[in-house]
Parts: sequence; C-alpha cells; structure tokens
Amino acid sequence: MYSLVLVVCAAALTHSALAARVCSKPPEVLFATINVVKTVYDVGEEIEYTCRPGFVPNNGQRKYTCQPTGKWPLNTLLCLPKRCPTPGQLQHGKIDFIDSHYQTLPFLEYSIFLAVTCPPPPLSEFGVLSYRHVKPGNISYYMDTIIFECVPPLALIGNETATCQANGTWSSIPECRAVTCPAPSGIENGFLNFAVRRTYHYNETVSFSCQSRYVLEGPKHSRCEKTGNWSTKPTCKEPCKMPVKKAVVLYEGEKKRVQSDLKEGILHGETVSFFCKNKEKSCAYTVPVQCVDGNLTLPACFKGMSQANFKTDPSDMKPCEDHE
Ligand SMILES: *[C@@H]1O[C@H](CO)[C@@H](O)[C@H](O)[C@H]1NC(C)=O
Ligand SMILES: *[C@@H]1O[C@H](CO)[C@@H](O)[C@H](O)[C@H]1NC(C)=O
Ligand SMILES: *[C@@H]1O[C@H](CO)[C@@H](O)[C@H](O)[C@H]1NC(C)=O
Ligand SMILES: *[C@@H]1O[C@H](CO)[C@@H](O)[C@H](O)[C@H]1NC(C)=O
Ligand SMILES: *[C@@H]1O[C@H](CO)[C@@H](O)[C@H](O)[C@H]1NC(C)=O
Ligand SMILES: *[C@@H]1O[C@H](CO)[C@@H](O)[C@H](O)[C@H]1NC(C)=O
Repeated sequence: MYSLVLVVCAAALTHSALAARVCSKPPEVLFATINVVKTVYDVGEEIEYTCRPGFVPNNGQRKYTCQPTGKWPLNTLLCLPKRCPTPGQLQHGKIDFIDSHYQTLPFLEYSIFLAVTCPPPPLSEFGVLSYRHVKPGNISYYMDTIIFECVPPLALIGNETATCQANGTWSSIPECRAVTCPAPSGIENGFLNFAVRRTYHYNETVSFSCQSRYVLEGPKHSRCEKTGNWSTKPTCKEPCKMPVKKAVVLYEGEKKRVQSDLKEGILHGETVSFFCKNKEKSCAYTVPVQCVDGNLTLPACFKGMSQANFKTDPSDMKPCEDHE
C-alpha cells in the first residue's frame, strides 16, 4: 500500500520536473500576435509580440524568453488603440488602478481594462442605423455602452443598446426594418378620429373618441408597434340609468330628482348618493354608489319612493349625527 503511494508520488515528481523543461503557450495579449505559435516552447526560446494594425505597444516588453522554470516572464505588453484621444489623461486615470491592483490581478485581467476597445459597429444599412455613445468620447472601452437609433419610420429590431465586451466585440447590433400596421379597427361605442383607411408606418398613431355619454378609458392613442400590431386601444364605458323611477339623490353636491333631473342617468365613474332611513332615530344618512360601465347597484338600505306608504321622503328627514 505505502509503496504504491510512493511510486505514484515519485512518478508525479518526475513528471513535473520533466514538464518544467518546456514552456506552455505564452499568455495572449489582446490585439497582439506572436511570431511563433506552438503548444510547447523550449527553455531559452524567444518569442516576440506584435500589435495588430491599428494598435500600438505601450512601453512594455515585446520579447520574452522561456525560462528554465518553464514559465514565461511577467508579460508587461499592452496594445493600445492608435486613435486614443487623450492618452496622457487616460493613462493617468488608470494608473492608480494598476498600482492598487498590480499585486493581486493577473496581468490579463488588468490589461483588459486598459486595452480593450470595440471598433465602431458596422453600420452598413445605407446609413439608416446610427448610434451614440453613452459616455463622452469617440472610443469605446470594455463595458462601455452605445445606443442605436433608426431613421424614422424604420423600426429598430433587436437590442437598442450594445456593450463593448472583453473580446473587443459588441454584444449585439440591431437592424432597421420597415414595419407597417394594417388599417386600425374601431372600438365599441366609439370611433377613430380623422382616420383614413390605409396602412400605417411604425410609430404612427391614431386617436379615438367615444359616442356621446360614453367615457373613454385607457390610452387615447394607439401606436403602430414594431410587431406590426396596434398598441392597446381605449374602451368606451357605458353610462348608468338610474335603477329607480322616483327618488331624490345627491349628485354633484346637490339634491336632484331622478325622474326629472337625472333622466339620462349618470356617466361611468360618477357617483350619486342615495338617502337611507334610520327608523329608530328617525333620521336619514347618505350612501354613495358609483356607476361602473353601465352598472349601478342600489344600496341595500335604500327604499325608493315607489313604495306606496311613504309619508316622508328620507331626503327631507334630518340627517343622522352619525350612522353605523
Ligand atoms: C470624435 O470624432 C469626430 C469625427 O471623427 C471628431 O470630429 C470629434 O472631434 C471626435 N471627438 C472626440 C471627443 O474625440
Ligand atoms: C440589451 O443589451 C444589454 C447590454 O448592452 C443587456 O444588458 C440587456 O439585457 C439586453 N436586453 C435585452 C432585452 O436583450
Ligand atoms: C466575444 O465574447 C462574447 C461573449 O463572451 C461571445 O458571445 C462572442 O462569440 C465572442 N466573439 C468573438 C469574435 O470571439
Ligand atoms: C415615436 O413617436 C414619438 C412621438 O409621437 C417620438 O417621441 C418618439 O421618439 C418616436 N419613437 C421612435 C422610435 O421613432
Ligand atoms: C400581433 O398580431 C399577431 C396576429 O396578427 C399575433 O399573432 C401576435 O401575437 C401579435 N403580437 C403581439 C405582440 O401582440
Ligand atoms: C355589471 O353587472 C353584471 C350583472 O351583475 C355583471 O355581469 C357585469 O360583470 C357587471 N359589469 C361591471 C363592469 O361591473
């Protein structure tokens, strides 16, 4: 048992000792190429990085030699975009970051923050797609975001925003498409204002109105959406007929006779108060009810004047001090 463990350990040691005599693939430097690309390098072998077109090396080292330990020396090369607008300022801003993290971050990780830029996104669609930077400046670094726009009336299909990713590409690029909606249909108990029967372009709107005494609820406008559908249309809410033939009620703060003043009923959303009687205290109190799309429910306490034996209408009785 022991001997087996020893054999395995010895084998592992030999293996690592052997492995130390070559270097594995050198670290990748963003926007740089290496002159000799292999999977293993001999000790003493030298490689050289070259920044890709459009990028310039910082003052870090470009040549590295495979060390007897089987490791490459710490890579200090950065390839920075040539178009860097204010390199001095930029370096200054980021140097603090390197100073405080140099010891803990692997080289590639902080080099990403410094060197990754995304090229301007391809805008091949005849200039209909444009974008703007969220932050000022013309160069997009890692994590920077841009916002796209399409020339009206084209609709932007896809993600409106894109983020510069660690590998120097944009997270997504939308497209601009012509979208039309069919001639809009009308709404119940209402109509389209000034509507011409035609197809509509993306983002065009139509507006609606209701027939007399109907109340429009929801958005007044409907918009032709990217899907080619109309956005939610409003609805027309029905007025309420008064559910009693004769009664005195409170409406807009005044006593009104249902049979003469409120013949047409009340509108959706409006409130009337009915008078209810407290027999023990011979007083009256009011109970408000609201018209909801043609429905108006009488309060349970209310006994209308149609009931024959009424001597005193509750609306003429003294108001109760308070009622339960
Ligand atoms: C951005 O680029 C435009 C055109 O290439 C140039 O006119 C402008 O000065 C640049 N702005 C900055 C902040 O570099
Ligand atoms: C759009 O892209 C941003 C990155 O720029 C991402 O955070 C967001 O989740 C994306 N939105 C959708 C709807 O995919
Ligand atoms: C860049 O990175 C993103 C996210 O990790 C990945 O989806 C995309 O395929 C990569 N693009 C290239 C060209 O490597
Ligand atoms: C859609 O139209 C409104 C005006 O009705 C405008 O404010 C908005 O920017 C337009 N949106 C697009 C994506 O064109
Ligand atoms: C748009 O309308 C089509 C039918 O014309 C329907 O299948 C689709 O679900 C609608 N899309 C949305 C977002 O309402
Ligand atoms: C109106 O009342 C009827 C009958 O009680 C009911 O079916 C309907 O849902 C009500 N409508 C509203 C908008 O409350």
